[in-house]
Amino acid sequence: MTHSPIIVALDFPTASEVLEFAQTIDPKTCRLKIGFESFLTGGPALVEQLQKQGFEIFLDLKFHDIPNTTASACRVAAQLGVWMINVHASGGQQMIEAASSAMAEQRQRPLLIAVTVLTSMSQSDLNQIGINHSPERQVLSLAKLAQLSGADGVVCSAQEASTIRKACGQDFTLVTPGIRPAGSATNDQRRIMTPQDAIAAGSDYLVIGRPITQADDPNKALNEILITLS
Ligand code: C5P
Repeated sequence: MTHSPIIVALDFPTASEVLEFAQTIDPKTCRLKIGFESFLTGGPALVEQLQKQGFEIFLDLKFHDIPNTTASACRVAAQLGVWMINVHASGGQQMIEAASSAMAEQRQRPLLIAVTVLTSMSQSDLNQIGINHSPERQVLSLAKLAQLSGADGVVCSAQEASTIRKACGQDFTLVTPGIRPAGSATNDQRRIMTPQDAIAAGSDYLVIGRPITQADDPNKALNEILITLS
């Protein structure tokens, strides 16, 4: 098990590219996030191969369905031996509780994380789906609901981390994407923070994709970020 707070987001179109990339980095320096694209191309076999190479996996499939269906999906995901899984907090208390109970039955229990508000959503996007208060208020209320319902933590923007940390306490796990080392390209991320600032704001885990995956030397990029955190 690594003590690194970095989770590298492996957004690649083919399983072979994921595996090729994984060869270039050391499982002692990070964990890996497998999302829809990589999972749909590589399936459970890809997760198993990466785990055999020593990586702990965040399976980012953001389940959101009726409680029974969500709990069943979480159970199967847990049986893959992954380290972290997630659901949408907006699935509500019963759905999160069902997922949490399914995790409690597991011999090797992954962390159950709830997605609050997608960082791509603005105030007007929320208004369109009938939510008339601010994204920040919605994030906080979903974080509190997720905690009450048995989730181990949430995915949120690092800009919300300190507020959630205050409201939900030290043991609640905060996973934050939208991280950019000083001087690197922002790409399509809007509300970004440096790794150091995100940790200072209360993040436990930093999800970082392109600044590492698109670097000429991913291993060097990863280690340079770790140095800024030590
Ligand atoms: O390349 P980059 O560092 O922007 O990648 C961030 C990763 O975090 C991507 O896999 C993206 O899907 C994910 N993510 C995000 N914002 C969220 C939730 C997940 O950027 N709110």
